[in-house]
This record gives sequence, C-alpha cells and structure tokens, in this order.
Amino acid sequence: MKLLDGKLISDQIKTELAHEVKENWLDKGKRLPHLAAVLVGDDPASQSYVTGKERACKEVGFISSVYRYPSSISERNLLEAVDFLNHDEDVDGFIVQLPLPGHINENRIIERIDPGKDVDGFHPVNLGRMILNLPAYISATPMGILTMLDRYKIETEGKNCVVLGRSHIVGTPVSILLSRKANPGNATVTLCHSYTRDLQKITSEADILIVAIGQLGFVTADMVKKDAVVIDVGMHRVPSTETKSGFRLKGDVRFDEVSKKCSYITPVPGGIGLMTVVSLLQNTLKAAKKEIKY
Ligand code: GUN
Repeated sequence: MKLLDGKLISDQIKTELAHEVKENWLDKGKRLPHLAAVLVGDDPASQSYVTGKERACKEVGFISSVYRYPSSISERNLLEAVDFLNHDEDVDGFIVQLPLPGHINENRIIERIDPGKDVDGFHPVNLGRMILNLPAYISATPMGILTMLDRYKIETEGKNCVVLGRSHIVGTPVSILLSRKANPGNATVTLCHSYTRDLQKITSEADILIVAIGQLGFVTADMVKKDAVVIDVGMHRVPSTETKSGFRLKGDVRFDEVSKKCSYITPVPGGIGLMTVVSLLQNTLKAAKKEIKY
C-alpha cells in the first residue's frame, strides 16, 4: 500500500503558488491575490477550516480576510454581506463557510454570490459550466481529489469508480468530474447514497473508491476490492487523551484494516483536507487573474 500524501502534494502546490505570486504580483507591484471568508456562528469545525484557509493564504503570500457574524444574523443581513464582497474590488474571491444556521436558506446565499468570485464553485452557474466542460470554478474538495489522482499518475480512464455520498459539495460534483470526457475523467462512475441496495457488492467492484458519506469508520476491509485506490473525504473529531487539543481526526474509512488491502489510500488527517485548502488557493489565483470569462 502507498499513501496518497496530501501534505507532500499540497506543499508542492503551495511552493508553485508562492513562486507565481512573487513573479507576477510582488515583483510587479500589484495588489496581492485576496481571498475572503464569511464565517457565521461559532461551530468549532468551521472555525478551524477557516483558520486553516487563512494560514494557507499567508504561506503563499495571499491576502486573507475573515468576516465573522453571530449565528443570529438574519438572512437579509447575510445577503447584504455577500453583496458587499461581490462589489469590493479589493477582494478577488470569497467563500461563505457552510453549514449556515437553520433559519438561513443556504441556496439563496450561494445564488447571491457573483459567479466570478465564487472560488468554492458552489454557484449554479459554476456547477452548470463544470458539467458542460466549460471554464468554471470547480469546488475545492472534488478538485483536490482530481489533483491528487493526477499528481500520483493514477489512471481513471475506463476505471470503475464508486462514489459514496451525493452531497452538493463533494459526492455529486466529483462523480460528474470523473465521468467527464477529460483527464482525469473518462471513468465509469456509480454514485451511491442512503437508498442504494447491496452497497457492499458495488463497492467491492470499485477500482477507485471515493468515500464522502460523513460516517466515522463506515468503510470496512470487506467492502474494498484488493488493490483498489481509496480516497477518504471524511473528517471526524474523535476525543483523544494523546493530543493537546483533546481530539484527533479520523475518516469515513477504517484505515487500519483497509490500508492492508488497497494499493493507494489517503490518510486522515494529512490527505484530502489539505488538498481542499490548496485547491481553494488555486481558484483564488484564477480569480485574481480573471481567467474565467462569463
Ligand atoms: N463546509 C465544508 N466544506 C466546505 C467547503 O469546501 N466550503 C465551504 N464554504 N463550506 C464548507
């Protein structure tokens, strides 16, 4: 078994980005690429994701800013915050960290984001363009998965790829990306969800298994074909006495048993989570260059 090392690949990409920022922005005296994040409430996981994004921005030389609002913010005021960022010429791209409190309609917020600044790739315009193979912002986690497969030269063409979970953020877009006429792509994709029957039979036939189901340790060794490639998108905080924070991260896949059977696997932490952050930085650079024309 080989590890698909998110730290190694994300560090390589950050070095490439920092080099590009120096050559094309710093040395030319231009305003540095700027990523903003909107954070509503005090969910610890969301806070830690946003802190990770800020840290990564600093590492590559981007400007980052975070707009924090209490969970009591009204939908109307949050829409106004989105409008403000849509019009702020000093911001190249921004994200609204999800999930949002229950009284706010997430789709309404996402639809309000200017597609040209939607570096999360959640806006229907970007999702639609992605399906049509047109230039678009691709959501960071699916993009990170594709980059990982690409950098490790894992062939997807003609492969049997099974995706567990149909979220709008990961499962649905990655299943579309892998079935597109592109490279990586050209895979035969099966998208599984809570109504799928005989799940084990389907997962056991996967050459590439992508798990984004949000259930701790859901995938066991008996669900995985020998020598399969396993991508674990799960991220669960499990209490631990061995860490300073009092918790450790674990995935949707039982790493100890599955890693003995597969050819490649992403660890948690140190896998797809880090790829998500660098993909967001890559999208921000695209936004700063106004590379995508609508
Ligand atoms: N919540 C979990 N993942 C993400 C993500 O990639 N972007 C945003 N905005 N919120 C998330």
